[in-house]
Amino acid sequence: MSSGSDGALSEVHRTAFMAAAMRAGHFLEGAEPKIFRDQFAPQLLEMSDDEIREFTAKVPLEMAASCVLRSRFTEDRLAAARGRLNQYVVLGAGLDSYALRMGDALESMIVFEVDDPPFQAWKKKRIEQLGLKTPGQVRYVPCDFERMSIDQALAAQGFAADEPCFISWLGVTQYLTREAIRTTLRWAGERPAGSEIVVTIVEPGAQEQRRARASDPVHFVSFISLEEMSDMLREAGFSRIEPLTQVAAREAYLKGRTDGLIIPEFQLSIAAIV
Ligand SMILES: C[S@@+](CC[C@H](N)C(=O)[O-])C[C@H]1O[C@@H](n2cnc3c(N)ncnc32)[C@H](O)[C@@H]1O
Repeated sequence: MSSGSDGALSEVHRTAFMAAAMRAGHFLEGAEPKIFRDQFAPQLLEMSDDEIREFTAKVPLEMAASCVLRSRFTEDRLAAARGRLNQYVVLGAGLDSYALRMGDALESMIVFEVDDPPFQAWKKKRIEQLGLKTPGQVRYVPCDFERMSIDQALAAQGFAADEPCFISWLGVTQYLTREAIRTTLRWAGERPAGSEIVVTIVEPGAQEQRRARASDPVHFVSFISLEEMSDMLREAGFSRIEPLTQVAAREAYLKGRTDGLIIPEFQLSIAAIV
């Protein structure tokens, strides 16, 4: 997908390029009003605008929708929570551009971008190559969820464990074992009251779809139902669990659109508050 400087990256890392390419495609071609306006996505990718358009033309509309819907839902929830917290932890950040888009408007908000070390190194280099200014409020936190302690990784970058935070974990759980998911959720659920997470799941119904679409390059490890994730979140310490239902997504984000974006069938964003 990119032009060759990503030799150290695995297929799972490259999924971050796909997610960003879908946001970039929406930015370049999506109907107004955009669901999510990520003006940095086209730049961060090592792809021309034509290559992005070519890629997005082949992507099923529900997949393209899932990437912009989850980011929009998350940032809407984050904006609503902003008054009660000053830390945003982006788990499996990929090419997330929240900090770049916010710039000085971050004010006192510290953004902790957590990702697997090889991908994070790629992203930092890319930002440098482009000459983009990373706000001083960004902390890069290298961490492999399968092998490292998120607690220690964040502590090393100045995370205030006794203060509430907002956490996003978008498009990642399907690549992880249940054990790694539970470990990270346990850390998240132990945050102080008022902390909030938005996590996405790929539901078991997607298994059949993926078998039919034999070309999918990346292996999914965990298919999780809403019921199972709700149990995991409760066990971890979250109380209010609020999925973005199909009805709510249609009403809030998709009504009247002319670009054909549709609700993803088996991908769900779930918000939960400690
Ligand atoms: C599909 S991308 C999603 C990126 C971003 N959240 C988004 O919505 O655009 C998956 C991300 O999860 C990260 N990831 C996958 N497995 C991981 C692991 N074991 N530890 C840390 N990060 C991981 C990848 O590096 C990649 O950035």
